[in-house]
Amino acid sequence: MKFARAASLETAHADLLILPVIQGEGIEPPFDGVDQAMAGALRRAVRGGFTGKFAATVVFDTMGEISAQRLMLLGLGARADLDRTRLNHVFEMGLRQAGTPFPGKVTIGWSDGLGPEVTPEAMACAATEGAVLAGFSQATHKSGNPRPTSRVTRLTLGAYPVVPDAALQRSLVLAEETLGARGLVNQPANELFPQAYAEEARRRGRAAGLEVEVLEERDLKRLKYGAILAVGMGSARPPRLVVLSHGNATRAAGSSRKAARPLLALVGKGVTFDSGGISIKPAADMGYMKGDMGGSAAVLGAMCSIARLKLDVDVVGILCMAENMVSSSAMRPGDVVRSGSGITIEVISTDAEGRMVMADGMHHAVALGASHILDIATLTGGQRVALGQVAAHLQGSDREFTQGVKDAAASAGERVWEMPNFPEYRSLIDSPIADLMNSTARDAMAISSGLFMREFAAGLPWIHIDMAAPSWNRTAAIKQMPKGPTGFGVRTLVNLAELFANPDKFSTK
Ligand code: BES
Ligand code: MN
Ligand code: ZN
Repeated sequence: MKFARAASLETAHADLLILPVIQGEGIEPPFDGVDQAMAGALRRAVRGGFTGKFAATVVFDTMGEISAQRLMLLGLGARADLDRTRLNHVFEMGLRQAGTPFPGKVTIGWSDGLGPEVTPEAMACAATEGAVLAGFSQATHKSGNPRPTSRVTRLTLGAYPVVPDAALQRSLVLAEETLGARGLVNQPANELFPQAYAEEARRRGRAAGLEVEVLEERDLKRLKYGAILAVGMGSARPPRLVVLSHGNATRAAGSSRKAARPLLALVGKGVTFDSGGISIKPAADMGYMKGDMGGSAAVLGAMCSIARLKLDVDVVGILCMAENMVSSSAMRPGDVVRSGSGITIEVISTDAEGRMVMADGMHHAVALGASHILDIATLTGGQRVALGQVAAHLQGSDREFTQGVKDAAASAGERVWEMPNFPEYRSLIDSPIADLMNSTARDAMAISSGLFMREFAAGLPWIHIDMAAPSWNRTAAIKQMPKGPTGFGVRTLVNLAELFANPDKFSTK
């Protein structure tokens, strides 16, 4: 996608000109010239009932009255609600409603004074990301219809305060990698099983400039990673642990890494299909469990972005890949397994497999010398019950680190909500026979599952993100978000890595 600027909205050649409208505030003065050229059509639309409701659109054929072929009024919703999340959603939703043919050349008009959170830069970056993401299609496997290519090829930021090109280029990278994560989550599990996924991660990681190491089953056995191995045992397709390194991360254990420099570890759940195992899931909606690798897809997308943006940070990404299946070799409820850290786990439910693959991934991060660990996973139905698709569950052990993730998410336009770590919750994962049990009752399910992950962070500053529902917008109930896989997490994790590039912000304690 190329960027351009236009001196005037009336004379800018484009397939589509988008003019954003704040609810109840009508047509802004910068759009007067267009309204006049269109013989008052814009203000007529407002009088006729277009109020600027969130993601509402009216599309006009301009009949050659201005240089753009079509014109869209796009509702931004109420001024008080506008934030980065809303901007991201509204541009993507708007472009998806542009009709056919998909507009290749798009101009976006600017209206001033949208409030302190909605800076020209936030607006331009949200428009850029929305323009890339609007091209996403789930329909990748229709015969006779090659992979859909809906792409905005040129984005003109019309009559606009100047936004640095580096910020736009950065948004382009983040959006492309978010699109990449969506594609992986969308990919059927008969194609994307651990070995295939590991190869794809290797290919993408290398292309972005990362160092990639793939631990195969025999490596996992040598390392005694009994938890991820137990989950993979029921499948003919054995597990993989993929380690992506940026900066000095790989030499973490050696002497070349400056001790003062933090090493951020991002650990993602990569269950390529979750049948539940012997504790099998109900048939309805089980197909969505091809997306149970969304956490690892976010980590992969973030790592590729970090490398492409050449951030001056040490980051390691760990993708914990396994397929949770039913067979005579599958793990059973009641089994006890020993994880790589030595912590023993009683398997209450074979459907609580995510925390098991992640346990060994987190231990691997500790062994590599991580100073800060973040885990991200489609971990529990409890997250869905508590926060739905709107916001991910956030839990953390360290004030500064937690605040960093909250800030990173807010400026990325991804919603997270912090949940408590009260010590009373810890007993929910006590086992009578082993160190921990893997499953808990419905009470505080997402929190107790987070506390399970914490046990594998070896006392380091730790963050847990449960993105079970935000990873896939299933229903039209949340109209503000596009349906389908969202690529949730990529942008937040990159923002977080950028905070680590500031040497005063996070240090090794
Ligand atoms: N992958 C699921 C969680 C999930 C549910 C993700 C819905 C996306 C949408 C996870 O492995 C799981 O089955 N969790 C169990 C945990 C329980 C057995 C402690 C759950 O949430 O019921
Ligand atoms: Mn499960
Ligand atoms: Zn799962």
